[in-house]
Amino acid sequence: MNPTVAPFPATRLRRMRQSPALRALSRQNTLTVDDLIWPVFVMDGKDAETPIASMPGVVRRTVDRVALAAKEAQALGIPAICIFPYTGMEARTEDCAMAWDPDNLTNQAIRAIKQAAPDIAVMTDIALDPYNINGHDGFVENGEIVNDRTVEALVKMALAQADAGADILGPSDMMDGRIGAIRTALEAEGHHNVTILSYTAKYASAFYGPFRDAVGASSALTGDKKTYQMDPGNSDEALRLVARDLAEGADMVMVKPGMPYLDICRRVKDTFGVPTYAYQVSGEYAMLQAAAQNGWLDGEKVMMESLLAFKRAGCDGILTYFAPEAARILNG
Ligand code: PBG
Repeated sequence: MNPTVAPFPATRLRRMRQSPALRALSRQNTLTVDDLIWPVFVMDGKDAETPIASMPGVVRRTVDRVALAAKEAQALGIPAICIFPYTGMEARTEDCAMAWDPDNLTNQAIRAIKQAAPDIAVMTDIALDPYNINGHDGFVENGEIVNDRTVEALVKMALAQADAGADILGPSDMMDGRIGAIRTALEAEGHHNVTILSYTAKYASAFYGPFRDAVGASSALTGDKKTYQMDPGNSDEALRLVARDLAEGADMVMVKPGMPYLDICRRVKDTFGVPTYAYQVSGEYAMLQAAAQNGWLDGEKVMMESLLAFKRAGCDGILTYFAPEAARILNG
């Protein structure tokens, strides 16, 4: 940037804003369909969908319906889908064994999507919370969320997902050392090309509320996740986490939530210059949809503006529940 700007009227910054053509020509950041990763919720059963009250427009789908949705996403040009399983209390145990079952909902969905829409990259979530009796991302021993034993379980979960055909693994648990352990296991098992998008800077946020309803975790969760997810007051710590995850073998890093943490996205991108993603989480989606439903905001416009903000902040892509709707608009 040139710090010495000629004074008015030699410089009239409004000149470049006067027509759609000049605005297009000088626009620095744009959103494209290539930037979108679509999170979807999978449930047991056949040929069914159920709405999620706190996320208007978002549904849980059975595996066959997820495959259909993936076909639609592929036709829209969306590059990736991320799978989240809905689990009732009956799937939750102390040992979380269902998390690495080759036939659990996530692994069924991976195979179904790969078959129905082979061009779409399939992303997963790695954490024990869908299968844990107490809703935590790790094992709980005497009230403590234990790190190292959890990492061993996460490795088993990661391998089951890679075996099922996942392209992108997304460890979202915030345990220390999990990226390195997963990467080592993937290499040992011949999964050299499976990528890791680490939920690197994941904050202990109140914006995850609607998601926990969507996956059935709200009633299961005891306490909070503050001993493993980041403190919202911290910024430098995010850079330490990114450095560590890259050193341990992550291919991509994520900041989560998105809109309240755009400053972190920018710092990460400027400092490391690596593929950087943001998760526009359930609470951000719910806020915008609620205001739109009340007629207080123009839903389409705020959706597109909120997604563009991630590009401006340096992100290479966005996990967003708006993905299909945004893709339809971008495709004209
Ligand atoms: C679970 C997980 C969460 C989200 C993604 N993976 C919730 C949590 O950490 O409690 C939140 C996504 C959203 O709010 O949209 N490991």
